[in-house]
Amino acid sequence: MDKKTALVTGASSGIGQALAKSLLKEGYFVIAVSRKPERGGVTNADLLPLRCDLSRPEMVTKCAGNIRGRFDRLDLLVNNAGAGFFGLHEGLDPADVTCMVNLNLTAPLIFTSRLLPLLRKAKGHIINISSITAKRPSPMGSAYAATKAGLLHFSNCLFDEVRKNGVKVTALCPDMTMTPFFDKLDFAPAAEEGAFLTPELIAESVMFIVKQPPGSVVTELVLRPQLHRLIRKKQES
Ligand SMILES: NC(=O)c1ccc[n+]([C@@H]2O[C@H](COP(=O)([O-])OP(=O)(O)OC[C@H]3O[C@@H](n4cnc5c(N)ncnc54)[C@H](OP(=O)(O)O)[C@@H]3O)[C@@H](O)[C@H]2O)c1
Repeated sequence: MDKKTALVTGASSGIGQALAKSLLKEGYFVIAVSRKPERGGVTNADLLPLRCDLSRPEMVTKCAGNIRGRFDRLDLLVNNAGAGFFGLHEGLDPADVTCMVNLNLTAPLIFTSRLLPLLRKAKGHIINISSITAKRPSPMGSAYAATKAGLLHFSNCLFDEVRKNGVKVTALCPDMTMTPFFDKLDFAPAAEEGAFLTPELIAESVMFIVKQPPGSVVTELVLRPQLHRLIRKKQES
């Protein structure tokens, strides 16, 4: 039997990178899409790196067209690439807001729309990496949270639209996960046991979601560390 094919956006770092490794171990052929797909250092005959700036909607459409030209079915689409700009909302740079909305919300919407025919053919699974911020107020992160809440609501609406075609849709909402996501931010999870999730743990959760018995779909999964401990890297002015 042919290998199952998965597309993971943002597979060059953090959660996406851990997930790409897990999927390769499980025997998937993985299409890895990001700006620097080689950055993750994962090389494998079953990994196809595709370069695309997902904050540019026209590039997303072009990339999806390229995938449609090369593959006739898709078993798994993981819309994972994302970024966060945080701070008082009135202080956000409009260019950063646009980038974040395009990357976190518009790109998954376009990818899903363009690739649904391939997913329908495989009775495939769409997993959207949302965030805990979609579930509760996130002061200093209103715009980021809005993109993630949009993605969560999109997932729930889409499941009701495509479930009759055998397509599964899941929104995964992780809390603080220790990845390079925080490299450019002024806060991070405390490096204390129990205060953060790991990318490998999120990848395991994705495997749990895709391995559900036929006829049952995890439509939403929230993962939180036991403790809530943040560190501030510098004093707020
Ligand atoms: N870490 C957390 O605490 C946490 C919690 C909840 C949800 N999440 C979500 O989980 C997802 C993965 O985050 P992470 O923590 O793994 O962060 P990360 O380590 O910073 O990884 C982000 C990934 O997104 C890709 N990316 C960023 N901008 C891009 C662009 N313009 N075009 C294409 N790809 C782009 C990056 O690849 P390139 O640099 O190669 O482009 C990278 O592979 C994000 O959607 C994030 O919002 C994270």
